[in-house]
Amino acid sequence: MSDQARYPAPAEWTKRTRLDAAAADALRGRALADPGSFWLEQARRLDWIKRPEIAGDWSFNADDFHISWFRDGRLNLTLNCIDRHLSTRGDQTAILWEPDDPAAAPRAISYRELHREVCRFANVLKGAGVGKGDRVTLYLPMVPEAAFAMLACARIGAIHSVVFAGFSPDALAGRIEDCGSTVLVTADEGRRGGKTIPLKASADEAAARAPSLKAMIVVRVTGAETAMTDGRDRWYHEAAADVPADCPAVPMEAEDPLFILYTSGSTGKPKGVMHTTGGYLLWASYTHALCFDPKPGEIWWCAADVGWVTGHSYVVYGPLANGATTLMFEGVPNWPDASRLWQVVDRHKVTTLYTAPTALRALMREGDAPVKATSRASLKLLGTVGEPINPAAWRWYHHVVGEGRCPVIDTWWQTETGGAMIAPLPGATDLKPGSATLPLPGVDPQLVDADGTLLSGPAEGNLVITRSWPGQMRGVWGDPERFFQTYFTTFPGRYTTGDGARRDADGYWWITGRVDDVINVSGHRMGTAEVESALVGHEAVSEAAVVGMPHDVKGQGIYAYVTLASGHDGDEALRQELSQWVRREIGPIATPDAIQFAPGLPKTRSGKIMRRILRKIAEGETSAQALGDTSTLAEPAVVDDLVANRVEQP
Ligand code: WT7
Repeated sequence: MSDQARYPAPAEWTKRTRLDAAAADALRGRALADPGSFWLEQARRLDWIKRPEIAGDWSFNADDFHISWFRDGRLNLTLNCIDRHLSTRGDQTAILWEPDDPAAAPRAISYRELHREVCRFANVLKGAGVGKGDRVTLYLPMVPEAAFAMLACARIGAIHSVVFAGFSPDALAGRIEDCGSTVLVTADEGRRGGKTIPLKASADEAAARAPSLKAMIVVRVTGAETAMTDGRDRWYHEAAADVPADCPAVPMEAEDPLFILYTSGSTGKPKGVMHTTGGYLLWASYTHALCFDPKPGEIWWCAADVGWVTGHSYVVYGPLANGATTLMFEGVPNWPDASRLWQVVDRHKVTTLYTAPTALRALMREGDAPVKATSRASLKLLGTVGEPINPAAWRWYHHVVGEGRCPVIDTWWQTETGGAMIAPLPGATDLKPGSATLPLPGVDPQLVDADGTLLSGPAEGNLVITRSWPGQMRGVWGDPERFFQTYFTTFPGRYTTGDGARRDADGYWWITGRVDDVINVSGHRMGTAEVESALVGHEAVSEAAVVGMPHDVKGQGIYAYVTLASGHDGDEALRQELSQWVRREIGPIATPDAIQFAPGLPKTRSGKIMRRILRKIAEGETSAQALGDTSTLAEPAVVDDLVANRVEQP
């Protein structure tokens, strides 16, 4: 990770964005010196029903904890993402949909059509009894109807909670109940990589465990034979045929909740991260514009699923607020073959591609030929998100995919931040492979040591954010205390990211990964406690400890140490069974990559599992030096057994 390797911002990008390094620095300075006027000025990117006169009003301190942005402003998100574009670009494609099957027909939905579709969907939701402030859970594949449904909620002031279609019925039921959704929107089936996913069947299973649920709206995607429950389920296409294609946009306060998105933390069950309307939308629009400079006629492609925050901010809200054409991809990068991403780029003349390092590493393994078989001449800019990008993958992306032409925009952020926080600006920032570079104007990251002391100059430590920004999450759904506890008590007065980072001599930021009990599997966050609780739910398991391990493609894999209840044998069959069990309990993304049966776990005399030792063993660092002091263990001998029976990365 040399700090010297620099890729200067290309002159044509500086010309295009009219923002060079000096201007970007000046903007950063102004945003921090006078945040009030800076953010009110930025707020003009949005159309307000009532323009705000108050910017940020917040305190991260215990005695006065509160966060709000533009709280005297009123707006409706869909007027910004749809209606305001109708007079200038009504016929321009808003959503360009690429199907899983390359032989099937793409769909292009213009802003005018989007308006009709969203209004219809909103009227269908209203028909199901949904009103302002009600929660609606969406469990949908990557089809345009997913975006229509999200926007339809925003049109009428309902709060959506999108649950990734890869989650299990149990996980879905838990998320429906936690926020008390009365309506679930799902599909008959989803398609991905040539396979179908039985969403309605999973939704039925979830509904049986979620008594708050009163109605299900089912989008027909594959046309599969589908069981419908009388009085509860309705086909979307039938309901939509009965309602008008116009629906008034409900005026919302800037601080009214827009959505809930569940994400894993270091403790037990996933948290419902809550974002509000004005600040979040501004953040999605501001960061998309600054980092990716969308221009009319260009095609923007964020290859994330709408089930994750990246899909919320950069498939739907940011690009539509900015009047862009956003490509939505139903499929996966390696099906039917390893050329697929680049074929889609050529087919739709994609200008900017935003994807995850894990996808790049997987494709990189297939060699350069599948890339070189395509033109990619339309590409101007490349982006990455989700986990640290290793310099080798960065270089491959830049040199092979982008042929050295396209800056690589590595954006560091989190579900909690709403949008990008540390990222290069294409015309202003010299790039260093593996570094997310510099904070966006208005973002104030700092490093603190374990005691919370602020570090200056080149240093490594815990990444904290010292001031609020408009896109900041506003709460954990149903648990205000948990919001404060999780993010503002470790380092009082500051927002704790849970990430470690290094700042180099040029002030560039290098994210080193999570410092808490969260692992990053293929750019998706997984709480070790969640996987552990699924494992101990199996009758054969008496105790489980889960840690991350390095994984060539996924970044991190899931390594589980399992102690069995007496009478059970740790054989291959049980290993398979436990793997399947976790898949069923949480979803395929939580499948352990390695399961080690252990007669005992290393514990302190007070009974605390020493995860530091388990992490080292999973990483393959088993020397006495690497394992460090084991003298405080109740039974030091268990470590020898763990080392001797370590499972290699498959
Ligand atoms: C965690 C947040 C951001 C949307 C997708 C994931 C890691 C994210 C980067 C990056 C290094 C990154 C961090 C962060 N992360 N982007 N560019 N470089 N690390 O959202 O599920 O909320 O996960 O992903 O560890 O805390 P998320």
